[in-house]
Amino acid sequence: MKKLTHTVSITSGKGGVGKTTLICNTAIELARQGQKVLILDGDLGMANVDLMFGRRANLTLEHVLRGQQDLKDIVCPMTENIDLIAGGHGIYGMNALSSFDRQRLMDQVSLLNNQYDYMLIDTAPGIDENVLYLNSAAREIIVAVTPDPASIKDSYALIKVLHQRYRETRFSVLANMVNDEKEAKKVFERLSDVANHFLCVSLDYRGYVPLDLNLRQSTRNQSLISVTSPYSASAASIRDFASTLKTSRGVNQVKGGLQFFWQQLSGVA
Ligand SMILES: Nc1ncnc2c1ncn2[C@@H]1O[C@H](COP(=O)(O)OP(=O)(O)OP(=O)(O)O)[C@@H](O)[C@H]1O
Ligand SMILES: [Mg+2]
Repeated sequence: MKKLTHTVSITSGKGGVGKTTLICNTAIELARQGQKVLILDGDLGMANVDLMFGRRANLTLEHVLRGQQDLKDIVCPMTENIDLIAGGHGIYGMNALSSFDRQRLMDQVSLLNNQYDYMLIDTAPGIDENVLYLNSAAREIIVAVTPDPASIKDSYALIKVLHQRYRETRFSVLANMVNDEKEAKKVFERLSDVANHFLCVSLDYRGYVPLDLNLRQSTRNQSLISVTSPYSASAASIRDFASTLKTSRGVNQVKGGLQFFWQQLSGVA
């Protein structure tokens, strides 16, 4: 059967809110549920998804754009059912391709079609142009936010610029490092109140992950909480979050799978 890859970015206004941690552990949970996951590491400055899996991806999208590698050859296996594409500085060059190179890339993307259930896109924090267009190419944009007022404020700034410059109207919100669900809902309401008041956008609550010192420790040990302590509070919440990704809440129905994503990224769609 044909798979339409669900392309999901996890992004944030402020740095250090847990995007990469959430992506890697969510990938583990999805993979456990038998889903095939591709991660795109779109963080140019601090690309660290591979390290989280204890691997090193030496080839990046840059090698593909320079014509030195085919896309399928830079796909780097992380663990069972999880592959990685490291963006490197290739993300910068994506929107400046000649039509010949763009077609070449799209032909290579078509070889990856139907192979993945999910593509999870890790971005740098903030509102740099490359972050914005990675997000705008994804079918679902998940804004990771913490109870820190600076995180709520910067999330709003990110949503605003994605709305005003890229006409995005639908966003999902995942609250991280909260005490409990009550606090998560409060963070969500604070953000959605201000977004609904000043912008014409809709925000969907996608769940929460509690502040968990075990998780922090597992990062220090260069391990993933969903692998080392799958029954811890944070791993259980990440599992719930991964399960909700199957529902179409927060999904932009106009946007499609892998082909659409790469076309959009290279300025075609
Ligand atoms: N729920 C949580 N409980 C406790 N610590 C957490 C939680 N989520 C993330 N962390 C910790 O926060 C730190 C930052 O996480 P991470 O690197 O995933 O953030 P990021 O948003 O990707 O950062 P950057 O913006 O720099 O890319 C890590 O030390 C991680 O262990
Ligand atoms: Mg990160």
